Amino acid sequence: MRHSYVLPLVFSLYFLTLTLPSKARHNHYHTKHNHPHYHKSPEISPSPAPLSTPSSAPNEAPSPSPIINDNLHNASNFFDLPTFGAIGDGIADDTEAFKMAWDAACQSESTIKTILVPRGFSFIIQSTIFTGPCKGGLVLKVDGTLMPPDGPDSWPKNNSRRQWLVFYRINGMSLEGSGLIDGRGEKWWDLPCKPHKGTNGTTSPGPCDSPVAIRFFMSSNLTVQELRIKNSPQFHFRFDGCESVHVESIFITAPALSPNTDGIHIENTNDVKIYNSVISNGDDCVSIGAGCHDVDIKNMTCGPGHGISIGSLGNHNSRACVSNITVRDSVIKVSDNGVRIKTWQGGSGSVSSVTFSNIQMESVRNPIIIDQFYCLTKDCTNQTSAVFVTDILYTNIKGTYDVRHPPMHFACSDSIPCTNLTLSNIELLPAQGDIMLDPFCWSAYGNSQTLTIPPISCLQEGLPQSISPIDIDHC
Ligand SMILES: *[C@@H]1O[C@H](CO)[C@@H](O)[C@H](O)[C@H]1NC(C)=O
Ligand SMILES: *[C@@H]1O[C@H](CO)[C@@H](O)[C@H](O)[C@H]1NC(C)=O
Ligand SMILES: *[C@@H]1O[C@H](CO)[C@@H](O)[C@H](O)[C@H]1NC(C)=O
Ligand SMILES: *[C@@H]1O[C@H](CO)[C@@H](O)[C@H](O)[C@H]1NC(C)=O
Ligand SMILES: *[C@@H]1O[C@H](CO)[C@@H](O)[C@H](O)[C@H]1NC(C)=O
Ligand SMILES: *[C@@H]1O[C@H](CO)[C@@H](O)[C@H](O)[C@H]1NC(C)=O
Ligand SMILES: *[C@@H]1O[C@H](CO)[C@@H](O)[C@H](O)[C@H]1NC(C)=O
Ligand SMILES: *[C@@H]1O[C@H](CO)[C@@H](O)[C@H](O)[C@H]1NC(C)=O
Repeated sequence: MRHSYVLPLVFSLYFLTLTLPSKARHNHYHTKHNHPHYHKSPEISPSPAPLSTPSSAPNEAPSPSPIINDNLHNASNFFDLPTFGAIGDGIADDTEAFKMAWDAACQSESTIKTILVPRGFSFIIQSTIFTGPCKGGLVLKVDGTLMPPDGPDSWPKNNSRRQWLVFYRINGMSLEGSGLIDGRGEKWWDLPCKPHKGTNGTTSPGPCDSPVAIRFFMSSNLTVQELRIKNSPQFHFRFDGCESVHVESIFITAPALSPNTDGIHIENTNDVKIYNSVISNGDDCVSIGAGCHDVDIKNMTCGPGHGISIGSLGNHNSRACVSNITVRDSVIKVSDNGVRIKTWQGGSGSVSSVTFSNIQMESVRNPIIIDQFYCLTKDCTNQTSAVFVTDILYTNIKGTYDVRHPPMHFACSDSIPCTNLTLSNIELLPAQGDIMLDPFCWSAYGNSQTLTIPPISCLQEGLPQSISPIDIDHC
């Protein structure tokens, strides 16, 4: 039995007694189903049928509520959490009130609806899926604080442990505000199963899932702006299956040693702009997964952390296509990597048309790196297929590197080498001392348009003889 309708039913009756719109389709309460994850839409798809029976015909809406009807059809409309019974004292569970506010706003006819998380309050919300489509655009304005239950022991047993707040099938939404989203990740990072948390530096077995703080799934026309978010148990933002995403002026912080706390992760997501944001955390600043194209990243300040990554791609022999990615005018400091492309052996597909330009590095371990031998355990065997990496431009990348690693590292597949890597205006100096490490290349083809510091002579010219166009999967 996958779905339990009991709670939604009880809830919908409660909802009706408040004379909120009877036309509400009640398809927003898919929040506590204990699905391990929601990649398959059948598991998450709204199933209004059992719920629509008790109320009047869903579309006729004979008695709209005073709250919602009181507006001009296009006027801005506010849905303030306390109006829906939220307490916001940092202790009470305000999940139900939040869901009611969401539902009312989602169903409201006005063009722009604003759900307000008011300043001066802290709302605790359990893992919830906010489902669309909604009627018109929606703003979630977080001026106060939003928090999940504190750590794995307080996480309700029947809630997903893989995600906290999920926005699903929304077209046209802005998440913004002067407040804070506090993921309270500390207790999750300390689980014994996390890397290095087990006894004697090992990883202990046991449930390790930790929630992504904010996930947008199968949604479009999204804006996240001027918001602070900190200490997610896992990724801070994850966009998957989305289109037209604009992230602007956000601040993400988590400790450098917090595991898997990527700032912004995107996958199967296109037309993405990530601008003017500051991210320091324990993993990638921005990570770009399979199925992304047309991504523009500009004026980011990243670090401490793991830098900006394309990948990892091709895990479990999967096919990955990533193209037309630009990362520019950014600073990456005190990070394990600067700009990285990482793929597993055995994958297929390609990474192409990537530009990294005007990037300042400060004490970065691997400022420029392509790693086609990415492997989290020690026992990955070499395989002949690989994700093809081609047409990568590095221009104006300057600053300092941590001398433990070569500042340029191109480790490409023997069978499917990297091609058309172009370097121009690269100046990378050791952060301490004056030991210059030589760049590393393996099966890497391309050229340097200007002298680089340190000089690179290991790129091979032209195209590899060995690969035929048939071997290459151009996506
Ligand atoms: C989850 O558990 C709580 C507390 O036991 C219960 O009230 C709620 O109905 C459950 N939700 C679902 C969707 O099963
Ligand atoms: C509402 O719609 C009217 C007519 O379509 C338009 O003139 C007016 O500017 C709109 N108001 C807002 C707040 O969008
Ligand atoms: C941890 O290391 C100590 C000292 O080397 C050893 O005595 C102990 O058995 C180890 N514990 C585990 C669980 O491996
Ligand atoms: C995004 O919004 C634009 C303008 O409102 C609209 O034309 C487009 O269809 C929307 N995109 C999607 C995928 O719905
Ligand atoms: C770059 O981003 C920072 C941080 O958000 C901002 O203060 C600065 O104005 C931005 N610079 C430009 C040129 O937009
Ligand atoms: C690449 O992506 C940008 C947006 O970042 C877009 O404007 C441009 O048209 C795309 N180029 C191609 C060739 O699709
Ligand atoms: C895999 O291939 C690389 C490059 O040829 C080589 O350096 C490495 O030792 C190989 N690894 C294994 C496990 O064979
Ligand atoms: C090599 O890559 C650059 C972008 O870095 C692109 O403009 C150029 O067309 C590519 N060259 C070939 C031969 O594909």
